[in-house]
Amino acid sequence: MPYFSQTVQHIRSSEIRDLMKLATRPDIISFAGGMPNNDLFPIEEVDEIILNMNPGIKKIAFQYGPTDGYPPLLETLKKYLKSKGLPVDSHRLMITTGSLQAINILGMEFIDPGDLVLTENPSFIGGIAVFKAFQANIKGIPLEHDGIDINDLEKVLKTDQPKLLYVIPNFHNPAGIIYSKEKRIRLLELLKDKNILLLEDDAYNELYFSEKSKALTKPLMAMNHEGVTMVYTGSFSKILGPGFRLGWMLAPPEIYEKAQIIKQGIDACSPNFTQVIANEFMKKGYLEQYLNRIRKEYAERKQLMQEALIKYMPEEVKWTEPEGGFYFWLQLPENIDATGILKESIDKGAVFVTGKTFDPEGQRNNYIRLAFSNMNKKDIDKGIGIIANAIKSRVTSNKYHIIS
Ligand SMILES: Cc1ncc(COP(=O)(O)O)c(C=O)c1O
Repeated sequence: MPYFSQTVQHIRSSEIRDLMKLATRPDIISFAGGMPNNDLFPIEEVDEIILNMNPGIKKIAFQYGPTDGYPPLLETLKKYLKSKGLPVDSHRLMITTGSLQAINILGMEFIDPGDLVLTENPSFIGGIAVFKAFQANIKGIPLEHDGIDINDLEKVLKTDQPKLLYVIPNFHNPAGIIYSKEKRIRLLELLKDKNILLLEDDAYNELYFSEKSKALTKPLMAMNHEGVTMVYTGSFSKILGPGFRLGWMLAPPEIYEKAQIIKQGIDACSPNFTQVIANEFMKKGYLEQYLNRIRKEYAERKQLMQEALIKYMPEEVKWTEPEGGFYFWLQLPENIDATGILKESIDKGAVFVTGKTFDPEGQRNNYIRLAFSNMNKKDIDKGIGIIANAIKSRVTSNKYHIIS
């Protein structure tokens, strides 16, 4: 057999992936899946769209489409993004096969082996995997409760020249936090004229739980970012369904041009079938109705989880209550390894994802990610009780403590 490429030579099944295989018992309570809830998908609306679709559009749905996207969807999406203050007139919009594909395309466009890429620590595992695949040298910048640690970033920029900085300012995966306005402004100021590509991943933009947190969700790209080269990505995965495999990227024309050529070589176009449906879903006003519904549902699950955490967790465990999105990110005492807790929890019937999965250097493991999105509400209390017991068996006291 020929040698594997350098890219895949070091890929191994992770310890966590192996553990997760044990966690497929039907009775297990899972906080692991960072995905929407199956019972909340807008099935009736999509049924209606498909049943009433005119035959001409149905034929388009079966066909290949333009690489940059189904034109009516591009137009609808442009209006939507413009309403968020995004610069759709000076930039170019491309539909991608999930927003993960947009990250992949940008990886191919900008990263040579050994290039320095900065991410937050923790960061989205899919993003980390892309940067690793392009053999980047990845450095994680600590994330605080209100965004990236600007002082740390500033220190790194004094000595290093990264190619790209990847951030998730709204309802972070896995950390659940949202950047403060001040952090956003400071980040853009710091990156001004630094010749670093700022990649803003806004997959959770719409999933706020209150008007107060909605006010914070304004994308970095919608702010004054003069002197900062930026690409913005978004996704239909959390606001319609990941099975649609639709995301988008908004990029300056020079970046867009090469991205389009790269996409031609990957899949020629994103599925027209789902683009046609997504377009109707937005044009009929179903998106806004659906979002109102799921924001309420996810906020309820978040609240139940917050109450269970307060009830069961020992005081050594800390977290920031999320104001949107899908995740709680628990910090355990430094000497506690989340993998041991995971093993015990799986034994007792609950599963989650350990911290080091999201550490670009794969080290820090005194954190755990709990997703409340894909859960039965009735299981939350029991599941958190199981995980808390596994933690308590490793720490002594049992009061709670919250950082906000
Ligand atoms: C932060 C973040 N970005 C991107 C994605 C990928 O989304 P998509 O399904 O659009 O590829 C996810 C999915 O979980 C995510 O959490």
